[in-house]
Amino acid sequence: MSFETISVIGLGYIGLPTAAMFASRKNKVIGVDVNQHAVDTINQGKIHIVEPDLDMIVHSAVTEGYLKAVTTAEPADAFLIAVPTPFLPCEEGQIPEPDLSYIQSACNGIAPVLKKGDLVILESTSPVGATEQVSEWLANARPDLSFPQKAGTEADVNVAHCPERVLPGHVVRELVENDRVIGGMSARCSERSVELYKTFVQGECVITNARTAEMAKLTENSCRDVQIAFANELSVICDKLDIDVWELIALANRHPRINILQPGPGVGGHCIAVDPWFIVSKTPEEARLIHTARKVNDSKPEWVINKVKLAITDFLQANPTKTASEVTIACYGLAFKPDIDDLRESPALAIAKNISEMHVGKTLVVEPNIISLPSSLNRVDLVELAKANEAADIHVMLVDHKEFRVKQELTGIAIDTKGIW
Ligand SMILES: NC(=O)c1ccc[n+]([C@@H]2O[C@H](COP(=O)([O-])OP(=O)(O)OC[C@H]3O[C@@H](n4cnc5c(N)ncnc54)[C@H](O)[C@@H]3O)[C@@H](O)[C@H]2O)c1
Repeated sequence: MSFETISVIGLGYIGLPTAAMFASRKNKVIGVDVNQHAVDTINQGKIHIVEPDLDMIVHSAVTEGYLKAVTTAEPADAFLIAVPTPFLPCEEGQIPEPDLSYIQSACNGIAPVLKKGDLVILESTSPVGATEQVSEWLANARPDLSFPQKAGTEADVNVAHCPERVLPGHVVRELVENDRVIGGMSARCSERSVELYKTFVQGECVITNARTAEMAKLTENSCRDVQIAFANELSVICDKLDIDVWELIALANRHPRINILQPGPGVGGHCIAVDPWFIVSKTPEEARLIHTARKVNDSKPEWVINKVKLAITDFLQANPTKTASEVTIACYGLAFKPDIDDLRESPALAIAKNISEMHVGKTLVVEPNIISLPSSLNRVDLVELAKANEAADIHVMLVDHKEFRVKQELTGIAIDTKGIW
């Protein structure tokens, strides 16, 4: 049975490109989002997010009539859920729990329009068991239909988890080329999901079960987190032992089987800094290394801030005629990784904010990828690189944007969390 109409729930960084790819293959696609602005923008053939090449694809999909956006779910043959999965706020020191309320609300939206033969795919990054929970929510809402947890391969509605691993900035290419992990709740669920993705995916669709597929995505990001934590811990150890960590890592990486990542000011973004908690909260006794890595990476911004405090003291000792209010600090970079404008969960942003709040003198920020500062940085001036180089007494390198990888003439004290000075 083919998929005549495909519905994507959540039209953000993942859902909109996915909807656009199906529509570009001349499938009828209904995108659903609770954000009226997103829906209106898409229906005008425009996009509300930044992603190279996506605007052209959405524009032709909408003008040719293959893609439309709505705020309430309509009947379709396949539903892909790509809504946020953040964690719930918690007290400091507590283990954050995943917030599945967006997924639950997406399920509430599609349940009334489900029919026999439909396929539901959870694409959102999810804790182990979330796909079974989706199927349970749908089964409770639609007792007239059968679902795989009871009916297996004979179910009226098939359910699967197919996590997304695209890299922002390369989504259009990676959606087509990347291999997909397909975790059906039954063999039939997986088969149907492969049929659907093969509409545009050229990578291999590798079949597993739903729980393994959920864990696969969490494992990928936890692996990065643990490896970065190792590099961050090394940087703190080397600082204490007066060893250049960048030289050390370069030397160690000459070993044919060693590949240590680079340290930095912490770990940010909405994936690597979030997803490992989904494992830790499920298995707190067992996930000791993953938990420790999270804590190591989360503690790095504070370590950098302490370095800045020490630098202020050192600077004032070397310049006894000056007061703290006459000391200018420049922070280089705010984004959570190089060469992007995304400030979500960024340790660099947290560090700049903290410096500006604790320091009585001027705080300057250089961030070539934004044109205005977020409102949280209200005691900070956004300046050009040359101005910061010239005006600051203490320089804090936070993100290795390409603009910063040039020779810079600095006077005063330099704190380099990225090893480029
Ligand atoms: N962005 C990435 O690079 C990336 C990569 C891999 C996986 N993921 C995962 O994909 C999922 C989606 O991430 P994203 O970056 O696209 O998020 P996003 O915030 O860009 O988009 C989510 C969209 O869902 C909409 N939404 C929320 N609740 C809804 C509901 N009940 N019904 C309909 N729409 C609803 C929001 O309005 C928003 O437009 C998350 O689980 C994320 O962890 C993201």
